[in-house]
Amino acid sequence: VEQTYIMVKPDGVQRGLVGEIISRFERKGFKLTGLKLFQCPKELAEEHYKDLRAKPFYPKLIDYITSGPVVSMAWEGVGVVASARKLIGSTDPLQAETGTIRGDLAVQTGRNVVHGSDSPENGRRETALWFKEVELCQWTPAQASWLRE
Ligand code: GTP
Ligand code: MG
Repeated sequence: VEQTYIMVKPDGVQRGLVGEIISRFERKGFKLTGLKLFQCPKELAEEHYKDLRAKPFYPKLIDYITSGPVVSMAWEGVGVVASARKLIGSTDPLQAETGTIRGDLAVQTGRNVVHGSDSPENGRRETALWFKEVELCQWTPAQASWLRE
């Protein structure tokens, strides 16, 4: 099954949006398989965002992600990667549709409150990067048969 790595960034934690953001994925019907509050070390932030190393905003991005605790989550489900990206909305919160997390809760790209993996491959890669195997739970939610026929 597809996995995605979702992270409430430090601004989301500082602004008290953790519950609100978790709720949106929970209510949609995806399965939470990992969850932790975590101070991200610089090396991990650099590995996570290594594809953006050449961008002018990269140093600020690393400072931002390591500026306070983040909430790391692993979510699982058919189509979860693309669906989570839709729930999150466009990178620039002013362009993000109303009804999305960024569209409803943020105003600037450099403070866009949440991360979501952009492909199934990155979903697996990032989940493995941010979680140890023992931190992930395999379980069957009681509502499973009410979510999918
Ligand atoms: P993530 O889910 O966080 O990966 O966002 P994304 O996939 O919508 O965007 P992308 O991967 O291209 O960029 C990663 C993150 O870098 C963004 O979410 C922003 O926090 C930050 N970022 C991207 N572009 C800019 C920019 O032009 N300026 C600043 N300050 N930050 C940026
Ligand atoms: Mg991205």
